[in-house]
Amino acid sequence: MRRLLVTGAAGFIGSNFVHYWLGRHPDDRLVALDALTYAGNRESFEAATLQRGFRFVHGDIRDLDLVISLLTEERLDTIVHFAAESHVDRSIARPDVFLDVNIVGTHRLLQAARTVWLDPKGSPAKHRFHHVSTDEVYGDLGPDDAPFSETTPFRPNSPYAASKAAADHLVRAYHRTYGLETAISNCSNNYGPYQYPEKLIPLCVVNLLQGKDIPVYGDGKNVRDWMYVEDHCAGIERTLERGQPGRTYNLGGNCERDNLTLIGTLCKTLDEVFAGDPDLAVRYPAALAAGGRPSAHAISFVSDRPGHDRRYAVDARRAAKELGYEPTTDLSAGLRKTVHWYLENEPWWRGVMGVSYDDWVREQYPDS
Ligand code: NAD
Ligand code: DAU
Repeated sequence: MRRLLVTGAAGFIGSNFVHYWLGRHPDDRLVALDALTYAGNRESFEAATLQRGFRFVHGDIRDLDLVISLLTEERLDTIVHFAAESHVDRSIARPDVFLDVNIVGTHRLLQAARTVWLDPKGSPAKHRFHHVSTDEVYGDLGPDDAPFSETTPFRPNSPYAASKAAADHLVRAYHRTYGLETAISNCSNNYGPYQYPEKLIPLCVVNLLQGKDIPVYGDGKNVRDWMYVEDHCAGIERTLERGQPGRTYNLGGNCERDNLTLIGTLCKTLDEVFAGDPDLAVRYPAALAAGGRPSAHAISFVSDRPGHDRRYAVDARRAAKELGYEPTTDLSAGLRKTVHWYLENEPWWRGVMGVSYDDWVREQYPDS
């Protein structure tokens, strides 16, 4: 039985992980810590609050005393660290918030873990610090380059990616220097329920439902490797169970698509779902699909993202060999589930979009 601290549990992947974990490990204790930024939402983990082992704490990973007291009082033995500022475009507009949360925040958690788990007066407690990271730390690839492996040198290109790379280095250093039992997973692009509609897939879905354009950056030929979020949760579970301390594992979706191809598949999925359910045209009258027109007509090319990474691709053979891990959800099944979730959860996406990022950042960081 584990006793976990899950940071960022009100965000996209964190909330999916809470549901995933409690569904499979109902006897575990799971303390969810989240600052509830614009990207964090109580409704995303609401169902978990009914489960005996679940507790939510509204707090900040940078609050060292809070984290130390949670680890101690709750006798926690595992940290799964999701909390971060996660959107590349926002990191380009305001990098300082990203450095503060992603680097300083991760360091505070490491300090707390070291203080509680490696107390020099006692014998080290059994523990695991799992850091959730991204394939973006490796930079980007040309069309014929080999995918990123765990030994690919770091070459981050956005402030977000650089902040995650710095955090990865700190986690590695705490293992090597202090013997903290860490593991890092570097995962590719996730999609699925509870993703804030600033990221490509949910943005496309909610824009289409509201009759708005789909903004495609540059020529739309940038390539990402897509993974359904539940598969990512399974990869983290496997890493917790079988991963070696101090080791890094790449997790990928085996699903490289350029953005235009991905958007084309998503549009077709939405069109098919509308064609099969006439009620949807009544509920979402502004959608092109409500009038029987192809959703792809909403594609609109806009200016490119500065420094836009051209291609990500993940070599996940280490995870397959050492953890016995493979993703299982193919893109068409994953997109269909995702489209249905957004259709059925309009109050959720309207609610999260009601919080203005600019207001939130001005309040939290008046000097940025
Ligand atoms: P998200 O933006 O949806 O959620 C982040 C959560 O962290 C939010 O609930 C937010 O309130 C919380 N948070 C932010 N600052 C905090 C602080 N100071 N203290 C406590 N909580 C704080 O992000 P996501 O997409 O779910 O990503 C989760 C993690 O996974 C991130 O570390 C990200 O780098 C990593 N990752 C994401 C993807 C992806 O495709 N989304 C892929 C690979 C790795
Ligand atoms: O690779 C993992 C990373 O994936 C995670 O670490 C990040 O947290 C996550 O946000 C994601 O980063 P991306 O920048 O790849 O994701 P995003 O959804 O922002 O963009 C995906 C692609 O779509 C990218 O090439 C940019 C493009 N795009 C994005 C948006 C929001 C558009 O063309 N138009 C858009 O409006």
